[in-house]
Amino acid sequence: MTEILNGRVLANNIREKAAERIHKLPHPPGLAVLLVGEDPASHLYVGLKENAAKEVGIYIEKYELPAETSEKKIIEIIEELNARHDIHGILVQLPLPGQNVDKVIAAIDPKKDVDGFHGENRHLLLENKPMLVPPIALAIMRMLQASHTPLANKKAVIIGNSAIFAEPVIELMKEAGVEAQFLNRHATSIAAKTRAADIIVVAVGEAGFLQRDMVKAGAVVIDVGTNKKDGVVVGDAAPELIGHAGFLSKVPGGVGPLTVAYLLFNVIKAMEVQERG
Ligand code: GUN
Repeated sequence: MTEILNGRVLANNIREKAAERIHKLPHPPGLAVLLVGEDPASHLYVGLKENAAKEVGIYIEKYELPAETSEKKIIEIIEELNARHDIHGILVQLPLPGQNVDKVIAAIDPKKDVDGFHGENRHLLLENKPMLVPPIALAIMRMLQASHTPLANKKAVIIGNSAIFAEPVIELMKEAGVEAQFLNRHATSIAAKTRAADIIVVAVGEAGFLQRDMVKAGAVVIDVGTNKKDGVVVGDAAPELIGHAGFLSKVPGGVGPLTVAYLLFNVIKAMEVQERG
């Protein structure tokens, strides 16, 4: 039996709590979202974030910029937003169509970095003094908690294309007593490594990448992939994992909605951090 973890139900719960907190505040938190270029998936994700923010009472400003906007112009907009007192969170939707991501992210005031991507926020998390933690990492941890798996001394692998995505997840897992390791999708003998894991987080962006023979029976699988196959949104985990994995966070309806919900919480957190001074 595979228990399917329902991210939508968990996310609705978090969104209701966010709305309750916001209604008690003297003024609404503000979020600015920069969307550069025409990538349809990015437009879709930003639309979901925008609707969720409005629903809980967050003031939102969206900057839709042409793909050829210069890095300098994007940084100027960020600097103006950094200086505003009614904007508490700044999010640059990724990927950028050519501009240097590191330079753009570095321009965001770390106290407004609701994605938790800024070097200062990454550093604070590694030092066990988290300020703003990436919503995706919080979403993955919430999913693990929902699986009711005791985490101490468990082995986890995070399979992805970039160690940067995995870094905050590994850190939070380590704090929970999990022995977590990043695996590049092209790592040698990958199936043997994934089969040794009690927890597998997969984020490679290839439908059906994680096959049944790569997964230990009863393992917890958290799918973070988003792919289109025959016009349908699917994750990276093969459907044959159902009946084999112990717990499965599927796509859609898994970590995606939870990530949006935690973004809302980060906007509230950012406002608290700034107003504390
Ligand atoms: N693109 C894909 N995932 C994310 C995310 O979590 N934040 C941002 N800003 N862009 C993304």
